[in-house]
Amino acid sequence: MSPSSPSSIPNDLRASQKGKVALITGTSREAGLGFAVARELARLGFHVLLTARNLPRAENLAGQLRRDGYVASALRLDLTDQITVKEAAITVINTFGHLDVLVNNAADMPDFQTLSALDVDLEAVRSAMEIDVIGPWGLVCALLPALKAAPAARVVNVSSLSALQVAPGLDLGASMRAPAYSMAKYMLNALTAVLGRALDDTAILVNAVDPGETATHTERGDDENDRPADESAHDIVWAATLPAGGPTGKVFRDRKLVA
Ligand SMILES: NC(=O)c1ccc[n+]([C@@H]2O[C@H](COP(=O)([O-])OP(=O)(O)OC[C@H]3O[C@@H](n4cnc5c(N)ncnc54)[C@H](OP(=O)(O)O)[C@@H]3O)[C@@H](O)[C@H]2O)c1
Repeated sequence: MSPSSPSSIPNDLRASQKGKVALITGTSREAGLGFAVARELARLGFHVLLTARNLPRAENLAGQLRRDGYVASALRLDLTDQITVKEAAITVINTFGHLDVLVNNAADMPDFQTLSALDVDLEAVRSAMEIDVIGPWGLVCALLPALKAAPAARVVNVSSLSALQVAPGLDLGASMRAPAYSMAKYMLNALTAVLGRALDDTAILVNAVDPGETATHTERGDDENDRPADESAHDIVWAATLPAGGPTGKVFRDRKLVA
């Protein structure tokens, strides 16, 4: 594989792969939620496609899963670059012809320290929207032929409780954390509802999951009381494997509907 290669799907898997396939965005960090989700889906027998803007990092994690006996490949995918989004979708369509699960896990919190919507950096808003809303939206559209070709595809958007901070009608006062990130997650929830409705006449279910505070950055020492990534991953995998007739266009936390 050359460093610029958009994928590392082994040739021997390309033609023969008929089983279930799952693509997860933002799988660049071993401690991240994306990798925990990929590992659990791999355990369930999915060929997992780990994607990241830095391909060697995704390839390194895919290699770990392969050494553990699972089927895993890596693809380059930068959600701010629609060319990589389309290239990844074409690779999936040409290699597998179908996609059973898409987990939109990637995100960035560019304004963690910002405590007021009036202090916001508009570049941070643009970046958060691109990674959390426009990117996943484009990815679903680009992957639609593969999602429709699967018998019962599931799309899971990884949301956050932060979305509630900006929900109209909730009086939470003036202070808030990370307005750009929160707005992007609010929009991601709205996108979930919109896509759920748009795909209502298909077998595809689209839902969002708020994983809750999760210990994915223990190196910073700020999440020692948070739940382990494996535990949060269970809830995402639950939504990724909902039975036919399950909910669509909804937001869940701890597998319960968020109003
Ligand atoms: N951890 C929590 O407490 C918590 C709580 C609520 C919701 N969530 C949500 O859970 C998800 C995973 O979070 P995490 O805690 O596991 O954080 P994380 O490890 O930082 O995951 C974010 C991932 O997104 C990737 N990413 C950033 N910009 C990207 C881009 N332009 N294109 C493609 N990928 C990009 C990052 O890749 P790079 O390494 O290349 O930057 C990283 O792999 C996120 O959606 C987050 O909002 C987390």
